[in-house]
Amino acid sequence: MRRILVTSALPYINTDIHIGYLLEAVQADVWARFQRLIGNQCVYMCADDTHGTATMIRARQEGRSEEELIAEVQAAHERDLAGFDIQFDNFGSTHSAENRALCHEFWRAIRKAKLVKERDVEQLYDPQAGTFLADRFVRGTCPKCKSPDQPGDNCSKCGHHYSPTELIAPRSTLSGATPEVRSSPHLFIELEKLHGFLEDWTQSGQHLQPEIANYVKGHFLGEPLRDWDISRPAPYFGFGIPDSPGNYWYVWFDAPIGYMASTKQWCDRTGARFDDWWGAPDCEIHHFIGKDITYFHTLFWPGMLKTAGFTLPAKIHVHGFLTVGGEKMSKSKGGFVAARTYLKHLDPSLLRYFYAAKLSSRVEDFDLSAEEFVAKVNTDLVNKVVNLASRTAKFVESTGLSAKYPDDGGLFAAGTKAGDEIRDAYETTDYSKAMRLIMALADQANPYVEERRPWDLRKEPSKARELQDVCTVALNLFRQIVVYLSPVLPRLAKQTGDLLHDPIDRWEQSQSPLVGTRVAKFTHMLRRIEEKDVHAMIEESKKTAVTPADGEVASATMPASAQASQWNDTGDALAAEPLAPECTIDDFAKVDLRVVRVIAAEDVPEAKKLLKLTLSLGGGATKTVFAGIKEAYKPEDLVGRLVVCVANLAPRKMKFGTSEGMVCAAGPDAAEVFVITVDEGAVPGQRVH
Ligand code: 2FM
Ligand code: ZN
Repeated sequence: MRRILVTSALPYINTDIHIGYLLEAVQADVWARFQRLIGNQCVYMCADDTHGTATMIRARQEGRSEEELIAEVQAAHERDLAGFDIQFDNFGSTHSAENRALCHEFWRAIRKAKLVKERDVEQLYDPQAGTFLADRFVRGTCPKCKSPDQPGDNCSKCGHHYSPTELIAPRSTLSGATPEVRSSPHLFIELEKLHGFLEDWTQSGQHLQPEIANYVKGHFLGEPLRDWDISRPAPYFGFGIPDSPGNYWYVWFDAPIGYMASTKQWCDRTGARFDDWWGAPDCEIHHFIGKDITYFHTLFWPGMLKTAGFTLPAKIHVHGFLTVGGEKMSKSKGGFVAARTYLKHLDPSLLRYFYAAKLSSRVEDFDLSAEEFVAKVNTDLVNKVVNLASRTAKFVESTGLSAKYPDDGGLFAAGTKAGDEIRDAYETTDYSKAMRLIMALADQANPYVEERRPWDLRKEPSKARELQDVCTVALNLFRQIVVYLSPVLPRLAKQTGDLLHDPIDRWEQSQSPLVGTRVAKFTHMLRRIEEKDVHAMIEESKKTAVTPADGEVASATMPASAQASQWNDTGDALAAEPLAPECTIDDFAKVDLRVVRVIAAEDVPEAKKLLKLTLSLGGGATKTVFAGIKEAYKPEDLVGRLVVCVANLAPRKMKFGTSEGMVCAAGPDAAEVFVITVDEGAVPGQRVH
C-alpha cells in the first residue's frame, strides 16, 4: 500500500473560489479518490493562503481585523469546495500556529545553511496609507513608451518590464498619493547555492512533466538563479521574522509551508505521525498546481524542503488555464464564474465530468464552451450511462437481481479487461483517456439493452425470467461503469450503491458482477441540461460583482463603512485618473450628448480595434461612428442597444471613413471597455443632461 499526500494550490483569501480553481481541485480530488479506491492510503491537504498587503488593506478598508476577515472567507471557501464534492482531509490556514512554528523551523535550517543575505531595497512607500506598496498598488507612466496609467511591474502597451520606482509620475492606487522612494533592508535567499541540486532534481525525469522540466531548464537554470527576496518591512500582514525585527516573511515564503501546517493539524486531530508524511522517503507527495506558479513549486519549494531536510515532492502536476466561451477568466466578460454562481444553476457532477473529459497529463489550456459542455454531459452521462439504469432498474424492483449472472455475450468480461488501461490512465492523470475508455464500455452496453427491449419483455408474463436476466446484465454493466467513474462522480457512485444495496468503495467491485441483491426504487440520478442553463449562469456571473465572500460581507452587525465594501469599489480607477479641472455648466452644455440606438454594427477587418456603428437619432437621422471597442464587444451584441453619443463632435476623417461622433464608454483600455447603456424607456434623439 502506498502512502500518498495530495495538495492543490492554496486559494488566496482575497479571491472567491471560481471554476478556474475548481479545475485544479477536481484534478487533485479525482486523483486522491482514485488512489483510495485502489486501496492506497491517500490524504488530500489544502488551506487558505492568507498573508500579504492585500489582506491588510482589505481588512483596514472593512474596519475589522484580518483574523475576522480570514475566518469568514475561509468558511465560504470550504462551503464552495464542499459543494463540488472536493474531499479534503484537512483544510487549514497559513495564518495558524502550526504554520508559524514550521516557518521558524525552516528559517533556522536556512540560516544554518548560510543561505540568507541582507541587502537594501528601494521600494515605493505611500505616506498617506502608511505602507510600502506592492507592485500592483502602483500605477504610472511607462518609462519606455510613455503610455500613461500602467501597472507597477510591466507595461500593458509595450510589454516592458521595470521596477515600480522607474515609473514616471507614479501614484498609489490605495490613496492616490504620490509615493516616496524609501530604502529598507530586505532578506534574500541565495538560491544559486542550490543550483546543482535543483538541476538534478528538476531534470531527473521523475518529478516534472517533460515540458515543465524543459521550461525550467530553458528559462531559469541556464543562468545563475536570482536571489529571492523573502522579507517585507512593516506594516505587513504575516509572521514576523524572529531574528530580523520589523520584517515579515513574504507571503510566498509561508504559503507552501501551509501544505505541511495543514498536515500537522490533521495529524494532531487523528493521531497520525507527521514524520510519516513529511519526514519519510517512502511517502509520495503530489502537488497539483497551475502553470503560473511553476517557478515557486519547482525551484523555491524543493530548495526549501531540501535545506530543511523534509520529504521532497514525488511529482508536481502542472495544468494549463481554463477559458470560458473562448474568453480569459475576466470579471467583466462573465468568464469569471464563481463556484456558488455555478451551483445555483447547474449540477456540480457535470462540471467534474466535463473537466475529467478534458484533462490530460499535459500542460494544455482548454475552453469551457456552453455548447460543448451541454453536448458532452448530456450525451455521455445522461444518454449513455444513466440511461442503462433508468431503463431497467424499475423492472426488477420487486424481484431483485438474478441469483446467477446470466450470459451477456462477454460484455462484463470485456469491461473487466479494460480495467487495467483505465487504471493506468487515472494513475498518469490522463483522465480524458480514462473517460474515453469508460464511454466505450457504455457504447457496448447500450445496444444490449436496445436489442433486448426490456420494456416489451415486461408485457409478457412468460418472459419474466428473461426480463430479470436482461436487467441484471444492464445494471451490472452500469455498475461496472460507475465504479470506474466513481473518482469523478462520487454522487453517482453513492446513488448506484444505494440502488443496488452495495456501497461502491473499491476498484475490485468492477471486476465481479453483483447477483441476488435487492434493487431499490429508482430515483432520478442526473438530469439533462440545456444551453440556456449555462447561459443563465454566465449572464449572472456578468451581473454579479464577484468579490471575496460577496453577499456575506454586509451584515447588520457591521459598521456602515464596512457594509459599503460589499461592492469592493476600491478607488483604484479614480486614483488612476484624478478629476479634471472644474468646468461650468455652460462648458458642459457645449457638449451635446444624445441617446442613440445602435441599428447596425460591423467589423472593420483592417483595423485592430474598430467597429463601425450606425447610430439612429430617431426619425431616420443617423450617424456613423468608428468606435475602438472591438476587443470588448461582438458587433451582434451591440445592435438594438440604447447608448450615449457625443453628437456635436467635429467629424473626423479616418482611414476607413468619416467618424461623425463618439460613443461614451468607460474603462482603462480598449480590451476592458464598458459602453454606457441607457435604460429602456429613453428614446433616441433625447439629450443627456
Ligand atoms: O497562486 C495562488 O493563488 C497562491 N495562493 C497559491 C499558493 S500555493 C502554495 F504554495 F501555497
Ligand atoms: Zn510601455
